[in-house]
Amino acid sequence: MNSYLIRNVSVLGAAPTDLLLRDGVVAEVGPGLSAPEATVVDADGLVALPGLVDLHTHLREPGREDAETVETGSRAAAMGGYTAVCAMANTSPVADTAGVVEQVWRLGREAGLVDVQPIGAVTVGLAGERLAELGAMADSAARVRIFSDDGHCVADPRLMRRALEYVKAFDGIIAQHAEEPRLTEGAQMHEGEVSTRLGLTGWPAVAEEAIIARDVLLAEHVGSRLHVCHVSTAGSVEVLRQAKARGVRVTAEVTPHHLLLTDVRAETYDPVFKVNPPLRTATDITALRAALADGVIDIIATDHAPHAVEDKECEWAYARPGMLGLETALSIALDVLGPQWDLIAERMSRAPARIAGLTEHGHDPAPGVPANLTLVDPAVRRVIDPAESASRSRNTPYARMTLPGRIVATFLRGEATVLDGKAVR
Ligand code: DOR
Ligand code: ZN
Repeated sequence: MNSYLIRNVSVLGAAPTDLLLRDGVVAEVGPGLSAPEATVVDADGLVALPGLVDLHTHLREPGREDAETVETGSRAAAMGGYTAVCAMANTSPVADTAGVVEQVWRLGREAGLVDVQPIGAVTVGLAGERLAELGAMADSAARVRIFSDDGHCVADPRLMRRALEYVKAFDGIIAQHAEEPRLTEGAQMHEGEVSTRLGLTGWPAVAEEAIIARDVLLAEHVGSRLHVCHVSTAGSVEVLRQAKARGVRVTAEVTPHHLLLTDVRAETYDPVFKVNPPLRTATDITALRAALADGVIDIIATDHAPHAVEDKECEWAYARPGMLGLETALSIALDVLGPQWDLIAERMSRAPARIAGLTEHGHDPAPGVPANLTLVDPAVRRVIDPAESASRSRNTPYARMTLPGRIVATFLRGEATVLDGKAVR
């Protein structure tokens, strides 16, 4: 096992100090540490954050290893400053059995670059008809606590109620992709002025808001935990605000892209901007940013959705929805929130770790905590080049954009996964 002496690092924006990582934990914190056996990392000007935790990552293995594998997605995550990711269940086969979630969990351990926590499907085959083996997945080696049909909405209210009831026994969570399917049939983008002008079928905000309103009532009735994936509209924020004020056990995430990009991007007809839920309006972005600041939205989650070239570089209508996110999320957060390091740590590490029950993650660097952390250079501005991505896919919506901040190093239980801005393995 290596030890690392990180010199002159600013922990969450505080005055520079040294960190000694040894035996998987932060062994010492303080100025002028010495440790002759340790590898020295000169961290002048760098900020240390608890390792980021992504509650919403698509890793594509099993089934679409041409788009991403557990290993390539893990490497992209480490390059983005992450030490843990929750892998969504819409693989092929679907992660709806103990066997598949254990396979994903094992592949994550073998890659060893981030902790991969599988999410289980709510319904068999994501078909929305029968509950999957939630208990068997919870009891498996993967110890699944979050269940989601993401990509699809659990639209049947009775099934949703039963899922919420079932997971209550082990304090599990249902993570809902909120989309009333009857209101989004054939939808290609946000329903509004731009969709009207382009003549594309719209995905109305109310299709999201109606499901969230229903589900917070169901969660309240059952007394279970609900998590709302990729909240994208101002109206959803208001529904969540009211539910939280009443004490409903609901948490919510927003993606980097919904914090930055609007539906106007669809004018390019470039399918790299096609995503589900779709990019919304500037008014929605303002509401989402305010909710992220005041805590109505708990976390930033990437919805990292790699797609093979043939699934993205085609006509808009045939392109799959989704965009890369792991390697750019911290930069977008820095762009949107500025250097509010404590808020960034809360929304991208501590809160997602708490929600997912990942107890080894989400701890500010301090003596004795697991050495899961990342070092950021906030002064760098970098031009995004899709060819440089560690992901197997190239569908980043930020190509050629200049974004602030760069991950210089990431440590998982005291071992470097990224050093000098490069993946170690
Ligand atoms: O844009 C999306 N892509 N939204 C989803 O809900 C699923 C995801 C995917 O799997 O590609
Ligand atoms: Zn989704």
